[in-house]
Amino acid sequence: MRKNIVAGNWKMNKNFQEGLDLVNELKEKVVNPNCEVIVCTPFIHLACAADELEGSVIAVGAEDCSTHESGAYTGEVSAAMIKSTGAKYCIIGHSERRTYFKESHEMLKEKVLMALKNDLRPIFCVGEVKEQREQGIQNSVVEAQIKESLFNLTAEEFAKVVVAYEPVWAIGTGLTATPDQAEEIHAHIRSLIAAKYGKEMAENTTILYGGSCKPSNAKELFAKPDIDGGLIGGAALKADDFCGIINAF
Ligand code: 13P
Repeated sequence: MRKNIVAGNWKMNKNFQEGLDLVNELKEKVVNPNCEVIVCTPFIHLACAADELEGSVIAVGAEDCSTHESGAYTGEVSAAMIKSTGAKYCIIGHSERRTYFKESHEMLKEKVLMALKNDLRPIFCVGEVKEQREQGIQNSVVEAQIKESLFNLTAEEFAKVVVAYEPVWAIGTGLTATPDQAEEIHAHIRSLIAAKYGKEMAENTTILYGGSCKPSNAKELFAKPDIDGGLIGGAALKADDFCGIINAF
């Protein structure tokens, strides 16, 4: 059976001390969760967060990794470097990276392979922008994102991937997809996985929802059969809000 997951994405927030404080608060407050809990942090926090959270129920992930293995790529951080901090996950293909840093399907495919090669589980993000939803093409947008960057993987590799559906119009806007809107896409994603890798793989793949998820709407979203948890931005920056979402399970 697939795992339910609540993952935080801190984005470009929290200085070193603030990050450490949040990690310690979470360590205290997250007890016996009914789902897996992950915090994805900026690179500067990874080693310290992984160290503080060692032996706890909370795993650590990065927000991105380089397409390159190592070498003269000033400012880049490789999957191997991330792995060496104790992190276990890596967000890949967040819409902010696709938009602001022009990350293409091809680049994201390379990043996914790099993460897997270094034993990091990718949390692969997909989602349509507002205009695409208005045109009613959200299913085909998400389909292309998944096919172009993930469907080259072997079954063994794909089994390590977590998918996150994040409609771009819902990120940081306070506009949440309705549980029915989200469920429709999640079910579509699962059917694509079934067609490519078989029904069992589809049933075992965790598909998260992200976009203005908060304690007040998490329960309704997570109640849908194909929504297996959330990727949380703003509400992951406060321990009580993040715990409120975790407790929706
Ligand atoms: P918000 O929860 O702030 O809308 O962000 C969602 C997100 O982008 C998580 O990756």
